[in-house]
Amino acid sequence: MAALFSPLTIGDLALPSRIVMAPMTRHRASYGKIPGELSALYYAQRASAALIISESTEIDPFSAIDVPTRPGLTNDDQEAGWRLVANTVHKAGGRIFVQLSHMGRTAHPSQLCGGRQPVAPSALAAAGTVYTAKGAEPYASPRALELDEIPTIVAGFAAASARAKSAGFDGIEIHGANGYLVDQFLRDGSNIRTDSYGGSVKNRARILLEIIEAIEAHWPLNRIGVRLSPTNPYQGMSDSDPASHFAQIAGLLDPLGLAYLHVVEPLVQPEGYPVTAAAIRLAFTGPLILAGGFKRAHAEQALAKGRADLIAFGQAFIANPDLPMRWRQNTTLNSADKSTYYTQGAKGYTDYPSLELVQG
Ligand SMILES: Cc1cc2nc3c(=O)[nH]c(=O)nc-3n(C[C@H](O)[C@H](O)[C@H](O)COP(=O)(O)O)c2cc1C
Repeated sequence: MAALFSPLTIGDLALPSRIVMAPMTRHRASYGKIPGELSALYYAQRASAALIISESTEIDPFSAIDVPTRPGLTNDDQEAGWRLVANTVHKAGGRIFVQLSHMGRTAHPSQLCGGRQPVAPSALAAAGTVYTAKGAEPYASPRALELDEIPTIVAGFAAASARAKSAGFDGIEIHGANGYLVDQFLRDGSNIRTDSYGGSVKNRARILLEIIEAIEAHWPLNRIGVRLSPTNPYQGMSDSDPASHFAQIAGLLDPLGLAYLHVVEPLVQPEGYPVTAAAIRLAFTGPLILAGGFKRAHAEQALAKGRADLIAFGQAFIANPDLPMRWRQNTTLNSADKSTYYTQGAKGYTDYPSLELVQG
């Protein structure tokens, strides 16, 4: 069975270990949603990951304009910014997929071009609050997408994926997790449509399959990954039977020959909390990444028991640019300074000491 430092080839991409860097939103793109030199430095510092998955990157040019420091991939300037990032990571010896996302109901009208109402599969608001220029405000009520609007969203993912190709990324991760638009379609707590995009699992997964098919015009399937979070309640998400529904979704994805399926499932769960990863592992025979609070020992155990092929680490990678080297040397880890998450400027993210610096 696999060990943390055993190599793995996914599709035609050779990975040196099983240690993936999870996607993590930062607000450090320059105004205009353009990743700049700080982004390139941040990702290049982490190039020893088996695979870097970028922060969530928007495919909708009209979305969340009030958060200008969250990156997009919808115009030439943003593409040029990401080219700098991809080139810098490659020069440092790494591999990087871009995570493409649409916010759906989690965007706020104050953030949207012309104060537009956010869109979602169904007119059901997310629970909780969203950060706006005026501070925390309740999520807005979205409007349900018309059937004839869905192809534009699918085309937006494809267009961003074409730009990702031209920017030099190694592949695409479709953000189908954590309560954003694709996840809103997948789970029955946020999708009560009665047309061909709602009701059965197959219908709820239709938009995801259409996005994959559209991206296939620009990328081989073995360079396309999908991230799912069947049980994450973040942003008011729920599903009536996540283990069964997401095993069926994994079964629909299985024959495609994707680069990987990436499942977020909290490692430590309250009693009675549903567990979906095992059912998904049975239904999906391609490479499986697990994420959600993994420490080194948990990861080694999961790999050894064949529960996953790769493990994605989030916050440990923010604080430890050279995480794989630290584990190889059994050295202590830096802890993350959470007060710098989602902030701008140069403090945090790129100033954590590497072993090279510490050991001279
Ligand atoms: C600051 C921060 C930003 C995040 N942004 C994203 C994101 O953009 N896309 C995503 O799919 N998950 C995002 N996540 C979730 C992480 O990818 C990961 O699943 C989560 O942090 C659990 O892993 P960990 O315990 O190893 O950090 C974010 C997490 C953190 C802490």
